[in-house]
Amino acid sequence: MQVSVESGGLEAVSTEVLAIPLFEEGMEASPLTAEIDRRLNVQLASAVTAGHVSAKLNRTSSLLTFGMLPFTRVLLIGAGKLDDWDAARARSVAGIAVRQARSTRQSALTFAVPEDADIVGSVAGAVHGAMLANFSTAQYKSNEPEDADVESLTVLVTANTDEARTAAEKARIMGEAANLARALANEPGNILTPSVFAERARAVADAHGLEYDVLDEDGMQERGYGALLGTSRGSAEPAKLVTLRYSGGTGEATIGLVGKGITFDSGGISIKPAAQMHRMKGDMSGAAAVLGAMRAIGELRPKANVVAVLCLSENLPGPAAMKPGDILTAGNGKTIEILNTDAEGRLVLADGLFHALSQGATHLVDVATLTGACVVALGSVTTGVFGDHQPWTDAVLKAAQHTGERMWQMPIGPEYRRQMDSDIADIANAGNREAGAITAATFLQEFAGGVPWVHLDIAGTARLETDSPHVAKGPTGVGVATLTQLVETVGRDDAPS
Ligand code: BES
Ligand code: MN
Ligand code: ZN
Repeated sequence: MQVSVESGGLEAVSTEVLAIPLFEEGMEASPLTAEIDRRLNVQLASAVTAGHVSAKLNRTSSLLTFGMLPFTRVLLIGAGKLDDWDAARARSVAGIAVRQARSTRQSALTFAVPEDADIVGSVAGAVHGAMLANFSTAQYKSNEPEDADVESLTVLVTANTDEARTAAEKARIMGEAANLARALANEPGNILTPSVFAERARAVADAHGLEYDVLDEDGMQERGYGALLGTSRGSAEPAKLVTLRYSGGTGEATIGLVGKGITFDSGGISIKPAAQMHRMKGDMSGAAAVLGAMRAIGELRPKANVVAVLCLSENLPGPAAMKPGDILTAGNGKTIEILNTDAEGRLVLADGLFHALSQGATHLVDVATLTGACVVALGSVTTGVFGDHQPWTDAVLKAAQHTGERMWQMPIGPEYRRQMDSDIADIANAGNREAGAITAATFLQEFAGGVPWVHLDIAGTARLETDSPHVAKGPTGVGVATLTQLVETVGRDDAPS
């Protein structure tokens, strides 16, 4: 989708449809709606009074303009109260406008930002929401889909400043990157194998100026990455460990982003129940979020150094599969007793975190659909945040807040480590049923080498079971915006030490 910012009032609208938020305070809440109403001989106000048009949040209605305005239709999106207008509201309202345009196969749309609003925040929110709403899941449908992509979006503002244009461009890039992550998570396990994922990552690196490197199983063997290799042994598909690098910073500080990329998680020998197992094709959403963020970083080129590691493997119960009771040795030399082969995410991340450190990471963030326990704790609304260095954790939380991705910090600590004391190895890969998301994080901490580290458990937030205003049900691309924002801020402020 092409995005541009325009000013100049109603005469500047060059698309057939103008989408505009309508506030409960009425026409006069916005000079632009008041002007539209006046030009339509107060038909808009009459339609509101008659109840044909509503300002209730997320309602849509459309009016024909019969030559009285320079566009053929005005699409009104209920925006609730004027006071509640912010970037998040802009995201959902613009998203609804785009979904409406998609359903009527309208390929170009102008969206008007309310005059009194914070223009930069509104533009950023509107473009981000519009991008996410323009995502299609029809890839594997044989019949022509009923809706069509919006090809171009114009954001109408009162003052077309450099800041507004920069915000629009950044939001477009972040939206595109999130949609890449969503498309990857939608791909079935038989198509997006670790090898195919690694090639998609190579394509992103080539297109966006990132260094690329991939380790195959022999390379991992040489480095002693027994935890990742152990996970992959039950599968006929070889594991891949991808490293992407972006060098835009001047100092030594290097952010390591590590993503769990299980392209299908059957649970292995500790096999999962059949009912929802197909959803585990999305168990690579952490790696997809990291790849999406790297794409955005490659485009935005902030002043920071980033090394990204994608831990790509299947978890299947083939004849060579790891078994409960097996002991694996990770790259950092620690021995792990496997008590449950379904706790595979922490195994691949153990070697992924170590690999990021070996590639020079001084600060770590890992992203993973790690535990069902996190879904129980926070649902599909909020990502679980775990960290052992508060300034670095705060930096991640602040980035999340800025982008509207809801995150909440959970505790960790040595008290939780006891659950994973093994009789014969350094650590067991699973504890008891208590505090499962926390024990998983506590496991990862042992492989983070003592540098500032944050773990994001996106098991609940990586996919939506029902449509939200601007995100269709299915993969959400969660994490892309926060990671990109984090790298950008660190580039501006210097990494918290
Ligand atoms: N990929 C799953 C976690 C998951 C569950 C993600 C639901 C998305 C939705 C992970 O590999 C897993 O199976 N975790 C186990 C760990 C347990 C065996 C200690 C879990 O949460 O049950
Ligand atoms: Mn699992
Ligand atoms: Zn998993």
